[in-house]
Amino acid sequence: MKPFERVLLIFCAIVQRSSTFNADTLERTLVAIEYLISVKPGAFSCVFYDVAPQYPHDNILDAILKSPRLDHVAKYVVDGSERNNVYKLPWNPSLLLLHTGNNVSHLESFDVIVDMFYFMFLFDPATKMLVFVDELYTPAMIQMQGHVYYASFNYFVYIGDTSKDVYQCNGVYCWNRPREQHPMYLFSYCRRSMQGRNITYIKNERVLTFAWNSKWLNETARYLNTTTVEYPHNCEASDEAYQQCYQDHAAGNGADILLLYMTFDIPDASGIKLYEDLEHNPQFVVDSVLKRFVAQGTRTEFHETRPGAAVYWNSDYVDVFKDVAIVKSKKRPPNACRGYKTRL
Ligand SMILES: *[C@@H]1O[C@H](CO)[C@@H](O)[C@H](O)[C@H]1NC(C)=O
Ligand SMILES: *[C@@H]1O[C@H](CO)[C@@H](O)[C@H](O)[C@H]1NC(C)=O
Ligand SMILES: *[C@@H]1O[C@H](CO)[C@@H](O)[C@H](O)[C@H]1NC(C)=O
Ligand SMILES: *[C@@H]1O[C@H](CO)[C@@H](O)[C@H](O)[C@H]1NC(C)=O
Repeated sequence: MKPFERVLLIFCAIVQRSSTFNADTLERTLVAIEYLISVKPGAFSCVFYDVAPQYPHDNILDAILKSPRLDHVAKYVVDGSERNNVYKLPWNPSLLLLHTGNNVSHLESFDVIVDMFYFMFLFDPATKMLVFVDELYTPAMIQMQGHVYYASFNYFVYIGDTSKDVYQCNGVYCWNRPREQHPMYLFSYCRRSMQGRNITYIKNERVLTFAWNSKWLNETARYLNTTTVEYPHNCEASDEAYQQCYQDHAAGNGADILLLYMTFDIPDASGIKLYEDLEHNPQFVVDSVLKRFVAQGTRTEFHETRPGAAVYWNSDYVDVFKDVAIVKSKKRPPNACRGYKTRL
């Protein structure tokens, strides 16, 4: 079912009944959304997710959905256990709106947790999210907070129906803020307040230099007004057991960023060769995974189509290149070994 059909269906399902939410909360929320629309270039889109859809549709989420003030906004509506069409949702909508209800046993039930994670992992974690709870600081909200936190959203705001404040979280910490603040602060007030938390990382310079990662880390830290701290490892680059040593080190430390996995895109990589100037890059020969594939030669450039030749790249490049290569030439890109996988 297409999202707009779903919207229509939900309109039809709304029955006239006394509302269960505070009119002032609705008004302030609409003002906040109107502000976000006014500062966002291009089209504005909202995804509505009701975590407890089996309860009557007379909550604040439906009131926002129905509001003529948001007529020009693209709206997508998802029910609790919807799976079939969710992949058609935009990956980075302008705003996610969740309604949780106050039934703690519902929020704690396994199926609901799975559905919620399935939903939240569909979106760019940088997406702004408004979470509607009946009251702030209740067991239902605390339960919900754990779910949202685990899904690693960068910034989310809890709005309690009758509270005088809102609860703004940046993934590290949460703040009580007055509900009357200007809407410009709703999603920006504590965005860069890391509360002394550093960005920790573990680096692996065995095969590729860390320089560009270092620049990216430093800039991220600067943006977040914090610092980076390395967890150094003592794994010897000449050691056969380097990969294991490194992975043990990575697993034993709670680093925010690990740059460690290596996987192969093709199931049978036995026929491929990774050509390198081995005299000047001996690290390729000692690496326990790569040494099975390396051969003396000139490195394969991305535009070359040498049969059986592999290229060593960061996984993000591989994904982009695949898209571009397939669209442009409808040909398979060269075999690619995925280098690093970044987990933030
Ligand atoms: C709360 O949720 C549980 C589990 O889904 C359900 O069995 C129960 O009927 C709900 N309670 C109310 C008051 O709706
Ligand atoms: C963050 O790193 C600095 C040094 O760069 C250190 O002094 C501080 O204790 C670290 N903070 C935490 C919370 O670990
Ligand atoms: C990143 O910051 C560290 C520590 O502040 C510094 O040693 C390093 O040179 C920086 N890297 C780049 C590429 O600027
Ligand atoms: C950046 O962090 C420092 C130290 O944690 C803090 O004193 C300062 O107010 C922060 N700046 C901003 C703009 O948040």
